[in-house]
Amino acid sequence: MSGLEALGAKVLLATEDGSAGVRGFVTDAIAAGAGNYDYYYACGPLPMLKAIVAGLDCEGELSLEERMGCGFGICMGCTCKTSRGPARVCKEGPVFKKNEILW
Ligand code: FES
Repeated sequence: MSGLEALGAKVLLATEDGSAGVRGFVTDAIAAGAGNYDYYYACGPLPMLKAIVAGLDCEGELSLEERMGCGFGICMGCTCKTSRGPARVCKEGPVFKKNEILW
């Protein structure tokens, strides 16, 4: 049992080879989980995050990964588009509410 499960959270695992949880991608685990979710947290590659947002109707937070030049907010190399305007992943992020991010 994971720490999250001990707190009462439903945890879904997906592995490409099926060695743990659902065999396949996280979208396969979402489909296998019967679809009752209150909230989610996700990190990983952008295509996966987009698939999660498209596949779940509930609110959630995403931790974005970007190439970083300076890592402390001056080069603007890690900027993403948000509903609040451009945001630096290293400074305003890396975690954003799903509805903030403009894909
Ligand atoms: S890495 Fe330079 S502003 Fe984020």
